[in-house]
Amino acid sequence: MLIKSAEFVVSNSDVAKCPKSSLPEYAFIGRSNVGKSSLINMLTGRRSLAKTSGKPGKTQLINHFLINKNWHLVDLPGYGYARVSKSSKKTFQKFITQYFSYREQLVSAFVLVDIRHKPQPIDLEFMNWLGENSIPFSIIFTKADKLKPKVIERHVDDYKKVMLEFWEEMPNYFVTSSSKSIGKDDVLAYIETLNDSLK
Ligand code: GTP
Ligand code: MG
Repeated sequence: MLIKSAEFVVSNSDVAKCPKSSLPEYAFIGRSNVGKSSLINMLTGRRSLAKTSGKPGKTQLINHFLINKNWHLVDLPGYGYARVSKSSKKTFQKFITQYFSYREQLVSAFVLVDIRHKPQPIDLEFMNWLGENSIPFSIIFTKADKLKPKVIERHVDDYKKVMLEFWEEMPNYFVTSSSKSIGKDDVLAYIETLNDSLK
């Protein structure tokens, strides 16, 4: 899919105030610093559309981006960041949960996971929660530029093994790098297929 336009629409902390349009949308979620905002910039080819930072906790709101005037990408705050205060952690958690529970336009979530790390309980728990709430999702492994291909393969295999303890099959997944533009075409083609299936 060619990205002809990508524009910021609105930020807010209340799912009720998200855009009212019925355009299909896709949300990026995962631990703080995993690369959600960077991935949005890589996919859209716009360097600073979504704000990124080396420090975790950069994205603090639900951010809607309108792509090709006919679908939305959503950048969310990260979960599991230990250094934000307990109360703001609770607030994030609450509006993330509300976003996923009430946003009817959401076609699929993408759960981002850093390819360098072993499966983390917080990610596994979040994916289980999505499953329990019948919210479709794919996994996006990020930062693939940091590892050699053989190691990537091994880490993905290890991840599959752990997922199969909870799931009948490994969810759909992508291996990506925002700094090297790896996985861009695959993720965009997948979104295009989903968009087409809704027509
Ligand atoms: P929060 O908004 O804090 O939840 O973080 P985020 O998940 O949006 O992460 P963000 O995109 O801000 O990136 C965090 C850090 O990881 C930044 O320093 C990015 O440059 C770096 N980063 C993101 N993606 C990649 C990648 O594919 N490869 C490498 N090497 N670094 C990356
Ligand atoms: Mg972010």
